[in-house]
Amino acid sequence: MTSLLAISDLHIGYQENRRIVEELRPASGTDWLLVAGDVSEKVADVEWALRLLSERFAKVVWVPGNHELWTHPGDPVQLRGEERYRHLVKLCGDLGVVTPEDPYPVWDGPGGPVTVAPLFVLYDYTFRMPGVATAEEALALAYDKGVVCTDEMFLHPDPYPSRPAWCSARVAETERRLAACPPDLPTVLVNHYPLVREPTLIMHHQEFTIWCGTEQTADWHVRFNAHTVVYGHLHIPRTTWHDGVRFEEVSLGYPREWRPRATPPGRLREILPAPHAAT
Ligand SMILES: [Fe+2]
Ligand SMILES: [Fe+2]
Repeated sequence: MTSLLAISDLHIGYQENRRIVEELRPASGTDWLLVAGDVSEKVADVEWALRLLSERFAKVVWVPGNHELWTHPGDPVQLRGEERYRHLVKLCGDLGVVTPEDPYPVWDGPGGPVTVAPLFVLYDYTFRMPGVATAEEALALAYDKGVVCTDEMFLHPDPYPSRPAWCSARVAETERRLAACPPDLPTVLVNHYPLVREPTLIMHHQEFTIWCGTEQTADWHVRFNAHTVVYGHLHIPRTTWHDGVRFEEVSLGYPREWRPRATPPGRLREILPAPHAAT
């Protein structure tokens, strides 16, 4: 049976994770794979993983995570911000991997047809704790607690003046693209961050949620007719339901996170045909 499958947060800088990726295979040669960001910080690693996967799956769809967008001192590719993103998009184009810049493909297999929309909308510090009025205040709290995302050092927004400004530009462009989708088809929305805030509420460090999405996407799963939303970043793999829409957090995560779990790491999540009924 052909399936639309998903995974994220491969973090192949870890050798154990790289070995897991080497073993990722479709059950059928017609399966598609959604890769929801955080493959690696290094462009050569991203290329290695996406090349391998694109040779195995009928179609691979990728969205950037924050780690791909880091300009890490250990990476020979020192491009920043938008230029770095465009470089990755070009690399995907050469591999035949679908990115947020391509026409949205239609999954016509079991559970379809649906429009598969890879999104890149970043975050803007609006997932703030109760009583915290501004991004500046939220950042100060995170610094006080010592819970600061490494993005603050390595994720440069160039040529935008700030990460929220880049996020706003991406939100505007993405809304335009989604509004132009065929209205009669449901969508599978793929984004590194959850489009709604609720999945972040169980995170241990609530100061960290400001790096996990934007309030600007809070109604997209309803407005844009989502069958399922696929995301990662939180490293809390699970299924939740919001307004009757299935949200799948599909991360592999770091070895220290997956090692203690009972389930074997690197299982691909089945998005379509849908294995769940609404609860
Ligand atoms: Fe991650
Ligand atoms: Fe991430």
